[in-house]
Amino acid sequence: MKNMVMDFADYARAPALKLVMLDMHSLLREVMGLYEANVHPITLRLDARHARVKGDATRLRQVIHNLLQNGQDALQGIDRPEIILSTADEADTLKLRVQDNGSGFPEHLLARAFEPYMTTKPKGTGLGLAIVKKIVEEHGGTITIENVVTGGTRVSVTLPLFEEVA
Ligand SMILES: Nc1ncnc2c1ncn2[C@@H]1O[C@H](COP(=O)(O)OP(=O)(O)OP(=O)(O)O)[C@@H](O)[C@H]1O
Ligand SMILES: [Mg+2]
Repeated sequence: MKNMVMDFADYARAPALKLVMLDMHSLLREVMGLYEANVHPITLRLDARHARVKGDATRLRQVIHNLLQNGQDALQGIDRPEIILSTADEADTLKLRVQDNGSGFPEHLLARAFEPYMTTKPKGTGLGLAIVKKIVEEHGGTITIENVVTGGTRVSVTLPLFEEVA
């Protein structure tokens, strides 16, 4: 999975963003297929009633991979490791959450989470979250990271839905 994390140079060379109607649930199921043999269980909770966004599939796959990779890394040596990948729809946005019950995000680094090259990993680039944030913002979305009281970290991404829904 490591080589799926683009570095900034790759990103600059990447083709222009193409926003098309995209069903995030299909995309999430597709990406999950690659994690079937995964050591840590990933639970998919596709609760959103509307999941079509204006998105670029290649870029959004990258977002999911980078966040899952971070979740995996945080679960090393954790008892009963789990990642929950869930969706919900709120008004005209799709909310995508990646929550792990791992080590937790170092509190003193939370404010710098999206800074390029901020890493605590011996072989990390510190670019994973910087790229995720850039992609989310190019989609007109938002991203936040917080630690959960029960232990672990939750990343919440919102993306505008493709169409206004009642
Ligand atoms: N789910 C998480 N739980 C705990 N800490 C996290 C989590 N996600 C990110 N972090 C912290 O944020 C840092 C930056 O993450 P980022 O994805 O940008 O880079 P990285 O994971 O260190 O390197 P790379 O993405 O190249 O593997 C990590 O080194 C880690 O300290
Ligand atoms: Mg990372």
